[in-house]
Amino acid sequence: MSVDPQSIDIPYEQPSAGLACGTVVLFAVVVTGYAALWLAAALELMPLPLTSVPATILAYLSFTVMHDAGHGSLAQGEQRYLVIERTIGWVASIPFLIVPFSFFTRIHDHHHAFTNHPDKDPDQWVSGANLWQALPQALTLLPHYAYHGLVRLRHDHNMRASWPSSTIYWLAMATVMVAMVAQGYGAELWWLLVLPMCAASVLLALLFDWVPHRPNLHQGRYQNTRIYLGFGLRWLTLGQNYHLIHHLYPKLPWYRYRQVFEQIRPQLEQQQANIDQISGLRKPFSLSHPSTNAVLTGVVITLPLVKRYRVCVDAIELSFDLSGVDGFDFAAGQYITLSTQIDNTTVTRSYSIVSPPGAHSLAIAVKRKDGGLLSCYLHDHARIGMRFTIAGPYGDFVLPSALETGSASTSVDLLLVAVGSGITPMLTLITTALECYRGKISLLVSHRATANGLYMKQLDRLVQHHPQRLHITTVWTEQRNRIGCTDIEFAAKGMLIDKCHAYVCGPAALQQLCINVWTAMGLAAERQHCETFELPMDAPQGERHQVVVTLRNGCRHQLTVAENQTVLGVARAQGIDLPSACGNGHCGSCLVQKQQGDDVLLAPNCAGLLVNERQQGKTLLCQCQPRTNLLLSEL
Ligand code: FES
Repeated sequence: MSVDPQSIDIPYEQPSAGLACGTVVLFAVVVTGYAALWLAAALELMPLPLTSVPATILAYLSFTVMHDAGHGSLAQGEQRYLVIERTIGWVASIPFLIVPFSFFTRIHDHHHAFTNHPDKDPDQWVSGANLWQALPQALTLLPHYAYHGLVRLRHDHNMRASWPSSTIYWLAMATVMVAMVAQGYGAELWWLLVLPMCAASVLLALLFDWVPHRPNLHQGRYQNTRIYLGFGLRWLTLGQNYHLIHHLYPKLPWYRYRQVFEQIRPQLEQQQANIDQISGLRKPFSLSHPSTNAVLTGVVITLPLVKRYRVCVDAIELSFDLSGVDGFDFAAGQYITLSTQIDNTTVTRSYSIVSPPGAHSLAIAVKRKDGGLLSCYLHDHARIGMRFTIAGPYGDFVLPSALETGSASTSVDLLLVAVGSGITPMLTLITTALECYRGKISLLVSHRATANGLYMKQLDRLVQHHPQRLHITTVWTEQRNRIGCTDIEFAAKGMLIDKCHAYVCGPAALQQLCINVWTAMGLAAERQHCETFELPMDAPQGERHQVVVTLRNGCRHQLTVAENQTVLGVARAQGIDLPSACGNGHCGSCLVQKQQGDDVLLAPNCAGLLVNERQQGKTLLCQCQPRTNLLLSEL
């Protein structure tokens, strides 16, 4: 099916459809070039080693033909051209010897679906900080594709479907190569095919992967790919210097990118797309990424664990190295999601950041939960040097900006209520507020027993340093009941309640209690801030629907979900572990494809689901409220 230019975020005037003649001409040039080159080699018209240069250029050109055929931009959806498109795609893949057309197409689909995702994007392999780091990665990209396809995507249905044709290709190529060596044409094989394949792959990896996606941090639709303009680049890269256009409209032929770019440039600039001018007027060439303000779905990076220590009997603090990472600016009170592979499944959870904004490391506290997949894994297996996927920062559980800048009135006080690990965002709110303004802070915190008290020593030290400003009341639930109305009222004593900002992090019941008490005390709703990673589970109302969620590892879960409930809420209530993290539509970890059925979103404008993703039939498990029976599959 051809892309409908009106159905995507920025509509453009569609160039004429039909067979992409420019790509067919390019294919003809490649075939003619190879024929001439092999003839020249056979007639010994040029030294054999010299043939590698034109052979590399031909392989480089051939890639664009294979690439466009894989995207369906050659036939542009017209049924009558499909056979031509596939034939051309297969022939164009021959110079790449170990990368069959169908196999490449599936791998490349994953690159488009998960651009810049550290685990899921196969092209993240080439993401070195500089050219010298990127070069060895570029050299090994093709073997990495083979590994990614055979190991990481072995459960992927589409990838498995490509294996029969790929196997035939590999057998055919192996036979040809063995026959050439056996017949004494080993030198021809090396100079005309193997060496050019390696050289072209390196060039392609650098010009089509590395440069367009640097610094590989952002996954936002308009930020995950760059456009870099300069004299001759369009022809040197066969249009891939307009790589963002290709990612926005993958079915557009390569020679149309510039035309569409000129049409939609104002809208791209509005979206803060990364458009660089190598030489010229707009701005100097830079490989830096846009400011975090432009990030639509947060940054995703892999960070090494540099420190772990025990903060109480059942919690550890993990610190990840942020030095050299640009653009991961977070505010006090925000959280990240941490993902890792456990038994071939990606497990993701949310954790509040406990390090202060601007620190060179990113610290989180992980409390061991009985049966908690990721918390137990981190407690038992997280070692210094291990790398983890971190996404974020997320959340608006932050200080009012006036407090962060220190310009607020000194009479503004903070009222904080936390239970257990809910203390983690409070810790950074307290340290930041103590540093940035002069109001009072009252913290009401509840732990089971002294041994379970997270960050008790740090908080005691802060009280010693700021006895006039910080007051802490601790409720030990082993000795008495949980936090009640009187505790909340008592914590607010001596504060100008109508000038306070109040924060609560804990279970839904505690949040509701705080809201009731604070509202009764006269605190305006906009000054009350709640944070929870628990999903509210409303009693079922309205029609109930059958929802089947199929995970990438083949597991299927069937749930009965009422129209006022979310799929993730019901799954968690039943102890079913579906991919998710924040639970509130921020992180996108629970993104799934609707195969069948209809739903509405709890928060229709949540950041974790882009407009075009919704249009493509995707939904978030944490936001999905069914309106019919649903078939969902993990992406
Ligand atoms: S769990 Fe984060 S968006 Fe759904």
